[in-house]
Amino acid sequence: MLTIQVNGEQKSFEAPADMPLLWVLRDILGMTGSKFGCGIAQCGACTVHIDGKPVRSCVLPISAVRDRAITTIEGVGASPAGAKVQKAWLDLEVIQCGYCQSGQIMSAAALLAATPNPDDSDIDAAMAGNICRCGTYVRIRAAIKQAATGRQS
Ligand code: FES
Ligand code: FES
Repeated sequence: MLTIQVNGEQKSFEAPADMPLLWVLRDILGMTGSKFGCGIAQCGACTVHIDGKPVRSCVLPISAVRDRAITTIEGVGASPAGAKVQKAWLDLEVIQCGYCQSGQIMSAAALLAATPNPDDSDIDAAMAGNICRCGTYVRIRAAIKQAATGRQS
């Protein structure tokens, strides 16, 4: 039996130690907001936070998580940065098909929590690993700036 902490709640389950965290979240715990895109840490669709830092859950074995705090798209809105990001995403209608967007929001929320007023280079560095096939990058950048400043740019 393994136990992890997700969005402030203890979750216990049976799983192989090498199962990636994304499989545990989606297939065992039924938390399907984090998406499977590439499976090789290249697209960012599966991004969650571990102790506040963005990680690719598709390549993180559950045995490496242990007692660290996991935050997913289902829980990120409880943090100040996550709430600001989600509001800006809605205000600016960032989402197109939506598949990449939980990962985009998780990376943006981690950026703002660490760097409350990011400049373009901070945004580039934080968001470079999140791919959007719909090309919503311009709106993502504007939403991050709105979340940071409270103003539409
Ligand atoms: S599914 Fe994890 S980075 Fe693409
Ligand atoms: S909104 Fe469609 S892949 Fe990003």
